[in-house]
Amino acid sequence: MSASASDRLADIPLDWPGLWLHMLRARDGSPSAQLSHCPERGWMVDEAIGARASALFDLYKPVLDARVRQRQLRSRAPWVVAQLGQSLDGFVATATGDSYYVNGAHCLLHLHRLRALCDAVLVGAGTVATDNPQLTTRRVPGPQPVRVVMDPAARLDGLSRVFRDGQAPTLWVCDSHHAAQARSRLGQAPGRAEVVGVDGLLATDATGAYHPQRAVAALAERGLRLLFVEGGGITVSRFFTAGALDRLHLVVAPVLIGSGRRGLQAPAHAVMADCPRPKARTLALGPDMLWDLELRTS
Ligand SMILES: NC(=O)c1ccc[n+]([C@@H]2O[C@H](COP(=O)([O-])OP(=O)(O)OC[C@H]3O[C@@H](n4cnc5c(N)ncnc54)[C@H](OP(=O)(O)O)[C@@H]3O)[C@@H](O)[C@H]2O)c1
Repeated sequence: MSASASDRLADIPLDWPGLWLHMLRARDGSPSAQLSHCPERGWMVDEAIGARASALFDLYKPVLDARVRQRQLRSRAPWVVAQLGQSLDGFVATATGDSYYVNGAHCLLHLHRLRALCDAVLVGAGTVATDNPQLTTRRVPGPQPVRVVMDPAARLDGLSRVFRDGQAPTLWVCDSHHAAQARSRLGQAPGRAEVVGVDGLLATDATGAYHPQRAVAALAERGLRLLFVEGGGITVSRFFTAGALDRLHLVVAPVLIGSGRRGLQAPAHAVMADCPRPKARTLALGPDMLWDLELRTS
C-alpha cells in the first residue's frame, strides 16, 4: 500500500480492529463483550464503542443478521449484497478496463471484510478477464469465501488465476449447455475449481442476458446462501435489475473518468414518480462516499 493510501486510512478508529475480531466471532454465532444478539433487533454493538466504529459496524450488521436467520432456520433464503466502486460520472474503469484504483485503500479493506463475512464472493467474467483477481481475504483477518465466476456462455479460457492458484474453492458458473466446454478448458487444472452448469441460466432471446436468480438458487443448494457480488458493472447491474440483491454498497469516488466501463445501470423509467428511491444512508470511506442501499427489507 502506498504512503498516500495508508494516510487515507487515518479515520479507521482505534477500537475498530478489536471490534472486527468480535464481528468474526459473531459471524460464527458467538456473542462477545462488545456484540450481543437479540431476536428483535439482531446484532447490537456495545454503546461504549466509538461513533465511527459503530457506523462502520452498521455496514456489516445486515450480513451478520442474515447469517443468524439462516442458522436458526427462520429463513433458508439466500441473502445477496453487492458493491460497486464508481466515479462521479458513473464508470467503474476506463475504456481499456483499467480500474486501479477508482477507489481508495479504505474501500479495498471494505471489500475484503465483506468477502470474509460472506459464504461466497462472485464476479463477472469481464472482471476475471481484465483484472485476473485473486478474490482472497489477504488484507484482513477472517475466513476465505468460495470464489464464484459468473460466465453463462463460458467465454473464459480457464487459465485465469482463480481457476489455477488453488487458494480457495472456486466455482465457474455457466449455463448447462456450455458446462462441458468449460470443463474441457479447465482440464486437469491443479487448483480447486469446479464447473457448475445451471439449467436455463441464459435467456433464450439471444441478448446474452441471463437469470441471476437461477445462479443464486444453484449456489444456495450448495450451502452458499450469503453471497457477495463484487463486480463488475454489468454483473451488478444484471443482479440489480433482476431484483436479486438485498443490499447494494455503491461507493462513489471523487474522480471523473469520462468514458469507459459503465457502473450501475438501472431499468429506465419515463416518469420521476416511478423511479425507485431505496432507503439509503451514507458513510465516508476515506475520500470516497459509500451509499448503503437497502433494496429489500428482511
Ligand atoms: N470498481 C469496482 O467496484 C469494480 C469491481 C469489479 C470489476 N471492476 C472493473 O470492471 C470491469 C469489468 O466489468 P464489466 O462490467 O465490463 O464486466 P463484468 O460484470 O465483470 O462481467 C460481465 C461482462 O463480461 C463479458 N465477458 C465475458 N467473457 C469475457 C472475456 N473473456 N473478456 C471480456 N469480457 C468478457 C460478458 O459478456 P457476455 O455477457 O457476452 O458473456 C459481460 O458483458 C473491469 O475493468 C474491472 O477492472 C470494477
